[in-house]
Amino acid sequence: MSRITTLLAQMTLEEKVGQLVQLSGEFFVDEPQLTVGPKAKLGISQQQVQCAGSVLNVSGAKKTRHIQEQHLQNSRLKIPLLFMADIVYGYRTVFPIPLAMGCSWSPALIERCCQVAAQEAVSAGSHVTFAPMADLVRDARWGRCMESTGEDPLLNSRIVSACVRGFQHNLEHGEGLAACVKHFAGYGAPVAGRDYNTVELSRQSLFEDYLPPYLAAVQAGCKLVMSAFNTIDGIPATANRWLLQTVLRDRWHFDGVTIADYAAVKELIPHGVAEDERHASQLAFNAGLDIDMKSPCYVNHLAALVNQGEIPEEALNQAVMRVLQLKETLGLFDDPFRGASEEKEQAWFYHPDHLALARETAARSLVLLKNDNALLPLKPGTKVALIGPYADNPDIIGLWAVYGETSHSVTLKQALDEVLAPDELLTTQGCDLLLNYDFLGEFGATTQVDAQSCMSEEQRQTEQARALQYAREADVVLLAMGEHMMQSGEAASRTDIHLPQHQVEFIQSIARVAKKTVLILFNGRPLVLSDVVEHVDAVIEAWFPGSEGGHAIADVLYGKRNPSGRLSMSFPRANGQVPIYYNALSTGRPADKSDHSPRFISKYLDCPTTPLFPFGFGLSWHRVELSELTLAAQFCAGETLTVGITVRNLTPHAGIETVQLYLQDCVASIARPVMMLKEFQQVMLKADETRRVIFTVNEEMLTFFNAEGEKVLEPGRFNIFVGTSSVEVLKGEFIYRAA
Ligand code: IFM
Repeated sequence: MSRITTLLAQMTLEEKVGQLVQLSGEFFVDEPQLTVGPKAKLGISQQQVQCAGSVLNVSGAKKTRHIQEQHLQNSRLKIPLLFMADIVYGYRTVFPIPLAMGCSWSPALIERCCQVAAQEAVSAGSHVTFAPMADLVRDARWGRCMESTGEDPLLNSRIVSACVRGFQHNLEHGEGLAACVKHFAGYGAPVAGRDYNTVELSRQSLFEDYLPPYLAAVQAGCKLVMSAFNTIDGIPATANRWLLQTVLRDRWHFDGVTIADYAAVKELIPHGVAEDERHASQLAFNAGLDIDMKSPCYVNHLAALVNQGEIPEEALNQAVMRVLQLKETLGLFDDPFRGASEEKEQAWFYHPDHLALARETAARSLVLLKNDNALLPLKPGTKVALIGPYADNPDIIGLWAVYGETSHSVTLKQALDEVLAPDELLTTQGCDLLLNYDFLGEFGATTQVDAQSCMSEEQRQTEQARALQYAREADVVLLAMGEHMMQSGEAASRTDIHLPQHQVEFIQSIARVAKKTVLILFNGRPLVLSDVVEHVDAVIEAWFPGSEGGHAIADVLYGKRNPSGRLSMSFPRANGQVPIYYNALSTGRPADKSDHSPRFISKYLDCPTTPLFPFGFGLSWHRVELSELTLAAQFCAGETLTVGITVRNLTPHAGIETVQLYLQDCVASIARPVMMLKEFQQVMLKADETRRVIFTVNEEMLTFFNAEGEKVLEPGRFNIFVGTSSVEVLKGEFIYRAA
């Protein structure tokens, strides 16, 4: 018998239930407070706390060691706690937000970032990370765009697999973090972009667009899956047996632990599918949900449900075994601290190699959206005015860097001070980031974000006058603008994704007097930039670039790095276009080729249907010319198709180019997208170099999902598009024959 089987045989029902209960840190204070505070709120006893299996969002070697020590003293069977936390895109060293990292199109780079994040977090006593977030997103109103890698199933899947590999690197040798993919499933598609709202997806789209990234995580070996807050087919994901059992376990053969999102079991009551907490526990558990995160349900009701025969004890045992198995895999029965120590924290936090990786990743994630007359990179000796609320603002790590410290962010000013002589740089804030912070509500007090107050009228006038004066004096103005860090992330949905009107007016007024203007944007979602892009000469989408953001932007501004980021999410021209995404289904009345009069085609009266900046787009110092797309006219079942394209660097700048291959199934039994990314390659082009890039198209790439989630392969005609974005492509076609 294995150690954990022996253990299970000795456990009481209460001890078993405890393994399926996750509590937050305040439950583990030294002095038990049973009449007030969190235990009273959840209505649980000290004995129940002592049986709990895992802790939510407590990290730091000192704290985790202390809690674990205390716990083991009290635990009859000495079962160690699991420490789970949100370590999504860095621990102390913060990498760019996931949406930014998605724009690097480099799973290998992202894998290294996740490995580093795990190394820092493990030294601080964390065991499980609630990452990667595999939620595909098409609606920029949703605040959690920033935690997704974008709108494409293939790109997201590749990145999610890389994250799991990175986090779980050497997991069984005490090094990595167990990865918990989230939020299963479809959380990125709430109706109208409002967080926690209903999700209405066809089964076909669910299988084709939304499920692949979660599956990629499972196939990469992630140890846990978190259920989502939303409904699928009207059934909350946390009580959705079709999702948790049929898809996840029966089809995908996932044998790890499932966990609810925060309080989601109890939320089955307001969802209107459970009568009370007992009923909610029964529904969630019988759907296949192992751990209840921070709700009073399992802790208070599972034992009774087992005793009363409404939950089979065997099913409870299996769920407990999955949790014990995870503890065993992590080595916690041999070393409950997993080597965490303050010395290791000292050694790994902000290690120079980690900071170098953060700097490289931020530079490779930013996207150059405009660069008229090759204004960038800036020439040495250029007199620069750095103006805007992000000129010298450390709040650039994004909302979900839970263990990051803005005191360690390198601001743009700090970075430019390192490369420019004092008389080459004029800096001023110029305008407020926001004019109103009411949206923060009570949350404002709990954030580490400083910039929450506005300038007085007098300060505003002085700042504005100074900004205009600096703009006139300088050769180039760098305008550092964007969203407040708290305007994206969880529960940060917006109906209007423009920059605030006062920022727009400020940008326009500066651009009017400046010789040249570069707009540098800090934000967590695609924005509507139509009212500013025309007024400036260059635009850098820097996202929330993380601890080394300032350095990375300066590296690009001064040509130390050639930008290579390509958008992983479309940028709309107007709010009303959202959701907008490149891989939309063909309609019966397409705007570009329809027999109908222009009035009666699929379009808007007041805006083009195309995005302002499309998926896959981004500029670099180099420019390429595409030619000679070659492929055979047909290929047959059991074969592959070789596709070649010539990519010629027209410039003396070496750089990374992302060559993208898209397919369109021209006639099928269901309407198919106008194009779908099927492969991509990053090639390093030397100055003036010409390269042949070769792809292999296989049958798998021609398949699609039907509404039952079965893969279908239909012979016929396909269009192929190969190029440097979803728009800059050469087109070909081929026939696929069944035999
Ligand atoms: O992991 C998160 C999740 O993404 C949102 N709700 C809370 C969880 C734990 O912090």
